[in-house]
Amino acid sequence: MTDAYGRTIDYLRLSVTDLCNRRCSYCMPPEGVCKRDHSEICSLEELAELAAAFVELGVKKIRLTGGEPLVRRGIVSLTERLAALKSVGLEDLCMTTNGILLPEFAASLREAGLDRLNISLDSLRPDRFRTLTRGGELNRVLDGIAAAEAAGFHDLHLNAVLLAGINEDELRDLALLAKDRPWSVRFIERMPLGPAATLSFLPASRVLEAVPELKRVQNAKCKMQDENSVAKYYSAPGWRGTVGLIAPMSACFCERCSRVRLTADGKLKPCLHSSEEYLLRGLRGDALREAILSAIQKKPARHNLSDARPSESARSMNEIGG
Ligand code: GTP
Ligand code: 5AD
Ligand code: SF4
Repeated sequence: MTDAYGRTIDYLRLSVTDLCNRRCSYCMPPEGVCKRDHSEICSLEELAELAAAFVELGVKKIRLTGGEPLVRRGIVSLTERLAALKSVGLEDLCMTTNGILLPEFAASLREAGLDRLNISLDSLRPDRFRTLTRGGELNRVLDGIAAAEAAGFHDLHLNAVLLAGINEDELRDLALLAKDRPWSVRFIERMPLGPAATLSFLPASRVLEAVPELKRVQNAKCKMQDENSVAKYYSAPGWRGTVGLIAPMSACFCERCSRVRLTADGKLKPCLHSSEEYLLRGLRGDALREAILSAIQKKPARHNLSDARPSESARSMNEIGG
C-alpha cells in the first residue's frame, strides 16, 4: 500500500485493549480509565480478521499494543492466529508491553510465534519508578525482562521516555544496559499528548552527551527494524547491544512513516497525532479493503507537534498504544 505522499505502508500497530495494569503519569490520568463495555471492543475473532485484511494488502509487520496488551484475555491465542499470517506475507510479529505479566506469558507468547518484545523501562531506581508509575514495582519489570530472555526473546528493545528533571540523570545507567547484552535501549522524546504534555521536554541529543562513546551504527539486525525504523541506532566498541534514539520532536521522521494504527474498538488511525479515524469494525471483503485503502490515502504528511501545539489526537496514549 502506498499513501498520497508515496510512503509504503507495511506496518500495523494493533491496540488490543485500552486497559492497563499500570498508571504511568505520562500516559494515564491518576484515576485510570473507564472500562468500556465489552461490546464496544472488537472480539479476538474480529481483530484477527481485520489484521488478515491488512496483511493481504501488504502489511509485513504487526505490533500488538495496548493499553497493556497482556491484560487482554486470549492474547496468546490471538498471537497464534496472527503468527499464522506468516504464511501469507507477514514477516515480523511483535509486542510492546510494560513487562509486568511476562513471567506468566513470555514462554507461551514465544511458542505462539511472537518474534520480538519491546518493554517499557523509564527508570532503574525503585523509588523513582514507583512515583513515575504511581505505585509500580521495578522488580516486577526486571523479572519480566528475565522471563523474556529465558523464553528466547534475546534482542529485547527497552523503551525509556526522556523526562526532564525525572530520569535525566539516569541516561547513562539506562544506556549501559546495552553494553553486555544484545539489547537495544531506546530513548524516546516525550510527545505532548494527554498528561505527557505537562511534563518537561528533554531532547534525545542529551543521551549522546551522557554517553559520548556512542557512535552511529546502521540499524539493527532484523530487516523490519531497518530503513523505516523510528529509531537511529548507536553503539560503542565492545558493546553487544545498541542505543536507539527516537526523536519525533527534534528530528521528525514522518516522511519515512510506514505505520497505521488500529484501535481496540476497530478504528483505523492513519496518524498517531491526527484526530482522523475510520471505522473498520463490521466491514468485510471488498468494503473492508476499500475502506483501508481510502483511509491510507488520507494519512497526513506529518504531525505539527510542538510544546505550544499538543497532539490533535482525540485519544490518549493508552487507547492508541504509542
Ligand atoms: P521496533 O519495531 O522495535 O523498532 O519498535 P517501534 O519503535 O516501531 O515500536 P515501539 O512500540 O517500541 O515504539 C517506540 C516509541 O516510538 C513509542 O513512544 C511510540 O509512540 C513511538 N512511535 C512509534 N511509531 C511512531 C510514529 O509513527 N510516530 C510517532 N510520532 N511516534 C511513534
Ligand atoms: N511520548 C513518548 N512516548 C510515549 N509512550 C507513552 N506515552 C508517550 C509519550 N507521550 C511510550 C511508552 C511505550 C511506548 C509504546 O510509548 O513508554 O514504551
Ligand atoms: Fe507517522 Fe503521524 Fe507518527 Fe508522523 S506522527 S511518524 S505521520 S504516525
